[in-house]
Amino acid sequence: MNDERPERSEITEQLRRERELSEKALNHSTDVIFAFDHDLRITVWNAPAERLTGVNKPHAWGRGVATIPRFFALTGGEASYRRVLAGESLRLPEARFFIEVLGVEAVLEVFLTPLRDASGSVEAGLGIIHDITRYKRVEEALQEHEAKLQESNTRLSRTLEELRTAQEQVAQTEKMVALGTMALGVAHELSNPLMGVMGFVGYARRNPGSPSAGEALGKADQELGRMRDLIKSMLGFARPTEGEITDVPLPVLLQHTLSLIGADLKVRRVEVETDLEEGLPPVRANRSQLEQVLLNLLLNARDALDGEPEKRILVRAWSEDAAVVIEVNDTGPGVPETIRERIFEPFFTTKPLGEGTGLGLSVSRTLVTETGGELSLVSAPGEGARFRIRLRKRDKAVSDSYRAEDETAVAKHTRGRSL
Ligand SMILES: Nc1ncnc2c1ncn2[C@@H]1O[C@H](COP(=O)(O)OP(=O)(O)OP(=O)(O)O)[C@@H](O)[C@H]1O
Ligand SMILES: [Mg+2]
Repeated sequence: MNDERPERSEITEQLRRERELSEKALNHSTDVIFAFDHDLRITVWNAPAERLTGVNKPHAWGRGVATIPRFFALTGGEASYRRVLAGESLRLPEARFFIEVLGVEAVLEVFLTPLRDASGSVEAGLGIIHDITRYKRVEEALQEHEAKLQESNTRLSRTLEELRTAQEQVAQTEKMVALGTMALGVAHELSNPLMGVMGFVGYARRNPGSPSAGEALGKADQELGRMRDLIKSMLGFARPTEGEITDVPLPVLLQHTLSLIGADLKVRRVEVETDLEEGLPPVRANRSQLEQVLLNLLLNARDALDGEPEKRILVRAWSEDAAVVIEVNDTGPGVPETIRERIFEPFFTTKPLGEGTGLGLSVSRTLVTETGGELSLVSAPGEGARFRIRLRKRDKAVSDSYRAEDETAVAKHTRGRSL
């Protein structure tokens, strides 16, 4: 029996080995691990603790923690140690700590917890310090990256906003220039009814009280109405456009545009013919911008017809699957093959200095594509120019999708009931 009992020396040996093992484990940890007794004296101190403080084990054991001031402060000071020894576990807020031995600053997380004996009373306190520097650095880099992204986003949207404003200004300038080129025609168009008014009023004055005088004044009134409408059109066109997209009835719009430029074309003996398909559906567009586009095409046609023996412009419009197509065709010399690709570029013009800015087509194309449409030159070389505008149709797509939604709702409902 006695033989089976381990020798005292064997037990001591085993204990020594176990102690050695736990010592190794402690030192292999990447975390700082230390322990302290009720007198706040260090009882456990591992290798990372040595590296962090520069205090090695023989110097640490039995030493008061408070005598390593920076470490003591890092781990919460007297108050924290007392709380832990009273049975509380603490997690201190992360802290930056300069490690003198390594010459680097680390970001550390400190945990303090009581160690209890078999009876449950606190016999010591345990501290664990975890290095989160690397994690922190990644986090900071990420935040920095995010901030930069945010900044370039803001810059981008500001640039876009500026671009939009500039674009609006260009469109507005283009309009004023277009109006300027029509001034002669407008003056002419106003002078005709003006002569009429003067004649009728003069007649009424010479024949006061007669029935024909009343008739003359009525006619004068009509002429004045014509003049008022023309002026109203010009003013309406000159007004800056609002960005609203609505359903625009094409015939009305075209008529309005032609009334703007009609006078000018008449003076130049240009014939305008329109051929609009019956029952044309409204198009999705900004009314005033579409008017500007049509006007630009008509003004280009007008200019192209200068000096031509046959001066005709044909405006056609018809409806296709999802689009309404408008074509402006003239009997001018057409666009030479060599510049075909360039005419939509901003500031490209073949007109003499002071006569063209070269912005008409470029602005027009921007305005059309913004509403989901297209503007292109479709004539073959050698024939008069033919420009095509393709615009999204209003109606079916929208109303169909509503109907489809209604049907799904109904289907869902039915299915819900059958379950
Ligand atoms: N109907 C056309 N027939 C022949 N060439 C045309 C026609 N329309 C445009 N072009 C050519 O395309 C060029 C560019 O037209 P765009 O409308 O962009 O500028 P512009 O008419 O020269 O100047 P503006 O800014 O005053 O309109 C014209 O200079 C002309 O050479
Ligand atoms: Mg032009």
